[in-house]
Amino acid sequence: MAIQMLSVKDLYKTYQSGEGECAAVNHISFSMEKGEFITVIGASGSGKSSLLCLLAGMADMTSGEVLYMGKSLARMTDREKAAYRGREIGFVFQEGNLLEDMTALENAALPGYLYQGRKEVEERAGRWLDCLGLGEQKRKYPGQMSGGQKQRTAIARALVNQPEILFLDEPTGSLDKISGERILRLLVKLNEKGQSIMMVTHDMGAAARGKKVIMIKDGNICKTLTLGRFIQEELEERKTRIYDMMREEKV
Ligand SMILES: Nc1ncnc2c1ncn2[C@@H]1O[C@H](COP(=O)(O)OP(=O)(O)OP(=O)(O)O)[C@@H](O)[C@H]1O
Ligand SMILES: [Mg+2]
Repeated sequence: MAIQMLSVKDLYKTYQSGEGECAAVNHISFSMEKGEFITVIGASGSGKSSLLCLLAGMADMTSGEVLYMGKSLARMTDREKAAYRGREIGFVFQEGNLLEDMTALENAALPGYLYQGRKEVEERAGRWLDCLGLGEQKRKYPGQMSGGQKQRTAIARALVNQPEILFLDEPTGSLDKISGERILRLLVKLNEKGQSIMMVTHDMGAAARGKKVIMIKDGNICKTLTLGRFIQEELEERKTRIYDMMREEKV
C-alpha cells in the first residue's frame, strides 16, 4: 500500500503588505505519497516558495493543515519541528544559503553534525560532493566557488541526513545547462531509488522530470498533470504536455 507522506488540507497563508493582507497560499489541498516526484510551476509571485516553506515547517500557516506521516506540523512541539526540519526533510533554497566561513565540505556536512560524529558525517558529505562533481572543491569557501558549485553544495547539504522528502526551490535556476542537467539526472536517479522529491522550477525541462506536475496560480493549484516515471526519450513530449497545460490555463 502506498505510504502517505504529506497530506495538505486547505492550506492558507497571508502576509501583511502595504495595501493590506495578501494570500500567498490560498486554500491548497493535495497529498504526496512516498516515492513521488512532484514538480511545481507557476508565474513569479504565484506562491510556490511560500508553499514549500510551509510544507518544510519553516513558516507558520494562517489556517489549514499539513500532516507529515499523519502528524500535524502545527501541533508539533519545537523539538519535534526541529527534528522534522533537520532529519525528515532536506531543503535546497532558491538562493543556496551557504555559510561563508565554512568550506564546501563543512557546509554540506552541517545538518549532520547534530546527529552523528564529525568523521562519519564528513565522509558522507564528501561522497555527495563527489557524486555532484565537486570532488575538487571540498576545501573551498563559498566566496571561491561559482553559483553552480554553490548550488550543488546546497544539494549535498540537503541530502546529508538522508531525508524522507527532498524539497528544492529552483535548484537549477542559476546553473549552466550542463550542471543543471547533471543535477536533474541525479534527482531522477534518487527518485528511482525511492527518494520522495518536490521541486519548484521555472524550467519546463526540469518540470518534465517530475512524475506529477502541479501548476500554481494566485496561491492555488490550478492544474495537475500526471506524467509517470521519467524516460529520457520522452523529454520533449513531456515538455509539450506541460506547455499544453499552461496554454489551457490561459484560455
Ligand atoms: N515575507 C513576505 N512578506 C510579505 N509578502 C510576501 C513574503 N513572502 C512572499 N510574499 C508575497 O507572497 C506572494 C508569493 O510569493 P512567493 O515567494 O511564494 O512566490 P514564488 O511563486 O515563489 O515567486 P518566484 O517564482 O518569483 O520565486 C508574492 O506576492 C509575494 O510578494
Ligand atoms: Mg520563489
